[in-house]
Amino acid sequence: MEAECRRAVELGIPAVAFTEHVDFTDWGARDTPPAGMAIGMRRGVAPLDVEGYLADIARCRDMFPTLRILSGIEAGEPHWFSESVASVLAAGEFDRVLGSLHGIPVAGTLEGIDRRLFARHDPHELVNRYFSDMVALIEQSSVFTVLAHCDYPRRYWPADRAGAYREADFEEHYRTVFRALAASGRALEINTKSPLASVDLVRWWWQEGGAAVSFGSDAHEPGNIGRRFGVAVDIVEAAGFRPGRDRFDFWRR
Ligand SMILES: [Fe+2]
Repeated sequence: MEAECRRAVELGIPAVAFTEHVDFTDWGARDTPPAGMAIGMRRGVAPLDVEGYLADIARCRDMFPTLRILSGIEAGEPHWFSESVASVLAAGEFDRVLGSLHGIPVAGTLEGIDRRLFARHDPHELVNRYFSDMVALIEQSSVFTVLAHCDYPRRYWPADRAGAYREADFEEHYRTVFRALAASGRALEINTKSPLASVDLVRWWWQEGGAAVSFGSDAHEPGNIGRRFGVAVDIVEAAGFRPGRDRFDFWRR
């Protein structure tokens, strides 16, 4: 975290948010998964040490007084893990909550989306299902304020057998997701780890009533802080959005 803050200051980035992944390997007693759904193998998922995490945030805030440092989480499938996510949020103070979908149910098991999953399915059908689940996520969870990487599966799209990923193949799905998100007044993340959104795609967000955009480098490592933000800003601007109220705000219409 310290190295990431140092890098952000070097780059002149005014604020960073450390949105720790919050995923679970078991259902909580009051979670609301589809009936009978199991959770597939999730390597590396461990409970968030909220106290240790917030202590690190506090230490970094002391060390880098000119940088605005937001605490936060990236809640995975928050519509199904609602109670489990709520209990993490109740354990500390979190400034920013991302909502994200990394998996979909396959034959009764929640499976992470990756190249292996694509290898076993029709790629268009898989992405169609992803978008349908994302609409449910948006409609059923109010815990997050920013939707992370709205088309996460494109990172693993099998271009070798399916041809290049074409946003236009999924335009109606994107628009349905964007309408639902806009109706709930939340922001869309432009994720610069994923293949970059086109101007057309961000314009669909605008056209469906989207009011705000956030920039996420999904960095995980110091060297990735602010990656491709220059291009991302150009794309968002070309779609009609402008800087918000101050340097810390979302970009807005
Ligand atoms: Fe993510």
